Amino acid sequence: MGFEYANRLKNLPPYLFAEIEEKVNKKKQEGVDIIDFGIGDPDLPTPSPIVKFIQKEMEDPENHRYPSSAGEADTRRAIADWYQKRFNVDVDPNGEVAILIGSKEGLANICRAFVNPGEKVLCPDPAYPVYAQGAATLTDAVPVRFPLLPEKGFLPDIESLPEDARMLYLNYPNNPTGAVTDEKFLLSASRWCVETNTIFCYDNAYSEMTFDDYIAPSALQVAQGDETIEFGSLSKTFNMTGYRIGYAVGDSDLISGLKKVKSQIDSGAPKFLQKAVIDALGRYDDKGKRPQMVDDNIAVYQKRRDVMVSGLRKLGFKIEKPKGTFYLWMKVDGPSLKFAEKMLNAGIVVTPGVGFGKGGEGYVRITTTQPVARIEEALERMSKVL
Ligand SMILES: Cc1ncc(COP(=O)(O)O)c(C=O)c1O
Repeated sequence: MGFEYANRLKNLPPYLFAEIEEKVNKKKQEGVDIIDFGIGDPDLPTPSPIVKFIQKEMEDPENHRYPSSAGEADTRRAIADWYQKRFNVDVDPNGEVAILIGSKEGLANICRAFVNPGEKVLCPDPAYPVYAQGAATLTDAVPVRFPLLPEKGFLPDIESLPEDARMLYLNYPNNPTGAVTDEKFLLSASRWCVETNTIFCYDNAYSEMTFDDYIAPSALQVAQGDETIEFGSLSKTFNMTGYRIGYAVGDSDLISGLKKVKSQIDSGAPKFLQKAVIDALGRYDDKGKRPQMVDDNIAVYQKRRDVMVSGLRKLGFKIEKPKGTFYLWMKVDGPSLKFAEKMLNAGIVVTPGVGFGKGGEGYVRITTTQPVARIEEALERMSKVL
């Protein structure tokens, strides 16, 4: 007889993505050639200078030991320097920076630090599932979803949000919609959070994955008080999803609560990866411009985006060209799950929008993590089945 899950685990919705993965694996076993636009994981490798840097750091026995769970001092300083160059924001490396084992970990742990059981956590719908599930539900808090609507550019109506919540999650450039925002909107969010005493968790994991001269702001550029904590990551910027390294920057009390939780759960990101943060972010120029290695990656994603969007438009879909992220958010006829199944039967994996919340129904997410030739092949297959 097995043990029953704790209620908080039972409260998690069924994991749609696991079900899809199972179906995809079955198709693969049957010998179907699958073109996978499913998960948000770069297919391009980590730039080789960074890999070589990490290899060298791994040789140093000092880097084999326990790191500090709060983050090594020189890494925190490198993040503060980068915030200055990139966003023109002054950050105290001692009190206002934490190093994370990927930003996902911090996004979940911040809830443990500040939200009591039964308290409300405001989460967008659709959204990256970690806010409502890994953060709110696994803290015995109550996720309250609010809509991101296409007619509003997938930005929420901040003034209409419930004022009695403990925490608000926002994320731009946005997964799954690809929407972006500006300082004016972030300022209104920050003001509202100060007025309502709500902690503002801003997920800026895609701040560097932007196209067409759009430059993503930091919520800390316009923070109005002690309400804001922002999360970032090397995962998408440097194709480093598998390494697990990210950071949180913001108000010192929020950072200190997050560090307190982390000190009881993990022992910090490996030192050689923390050193890689110094190397990677140090490659930005003094004006905060992305290094060539990042620009090169972005150019690849931009080309793929353009090929995919123009092909889908030719097939009759109404679809926007996102200015950030490698996600295309496409309106489909009927339920998103049905459309995804139809695609899977043609050997194409897309993610049904409903997996990101009820607000994602009627959409699918397409991640441009396939080379142009495979995108063209997928478009060809689509033209036959649609
Ligand atoms: C919106 C968003 N935030 C955060 C993350 C987590 O990234 P990581 O934990 O690799 O830093 C992801 C990953 O896909 C994401 O889509």
